[in-house]
Amino acid sequence: MEYYEVLARRRMYRHFSTDPIPQDALDRILSSATRGPSAGFTQGFDFLILNDALSLGQFWSLALTDKWRKTTSMHKDLWNAPVVIIPLANPQAYAQRYSEPDKEYSNLDSEVNWPVPYWHIDTAFASMLILNSVVNENLGALFFGLFRNMNSIKEAFGIPEGLVPIGAIAIGHPSSSELSASSKRGRRPRSSQFHFNRF
Ligand SMILES: Cc1cc2nc3c(=O)[nH]c(=O)nc-3n(C[C@H](O)[C@H](O)[C@H](O)COP(=O)(O)O)c2cc1C
Repeated sequence: MEYYEVLARRRMYRHFSTDPIPQDALDRILSSATRGPSAGFTQGFDFLILNDALSLGQFWSLALTDKWRKTTSMHKDLWNAPVVIIPLANPQAYAQRYSEPDKEYSNLDSEVNWPVPYWHIDTAFASMLILNSVVNENLGALFFGLFRNMNSIKEAFGIPEGLVPIGAIAIGHPSSSELSASSKRGRRPRSSQFHFNRF
């Protein structure tokens, strides 16, 4: 697919069929996540990939309440997605990298000194590559927030202490293209968003 077509087609899907994702497509999607930039080339992010029924069932029952799952219409086929990827940011990896001799000058060997959390930025860059590659594979995805049972999710899947799930990405074959209320807000006009030479 042509690059700008990928960008134009990129959107979040919230309804999926249970059809599996071909392993080679998943491999390409995951490889693309390693092509992003990272501060000091720290690459301080990992991915937990859930793609068996047991793990997926366990994940959804921790991430969402039964009540919400029974009542939501916008997300009612979300949990059909055959793959969920949880991108994990690793703050300590950045503090460690920036205490190496070539970065000593930066005074960034402690997390608290960072003006913005580069571990979240880099993990989000990698996640964006996943989202775009999903489009290129003619699949759909939803990046969504994790708001409950974070410790139980970490424990259930053996996520090491110190790694921070920045959300989750459900990937599958879209079964509906219904838009969410947020998506219907439309894009901001360019003139309100791009500030040439002076804000
Ligand atoms: C950090 C982040 C968190 C999001 N969380 C959710 C979520 O919890 N549930 C959801 O349905 N969509 C979520 N979204 C998707 C946004 O609603 C969506 O990207 C936005 O409405 C624009 O639509 P589009 O991505 O289809 O162009 C999230 C997106 C981002 C970037």
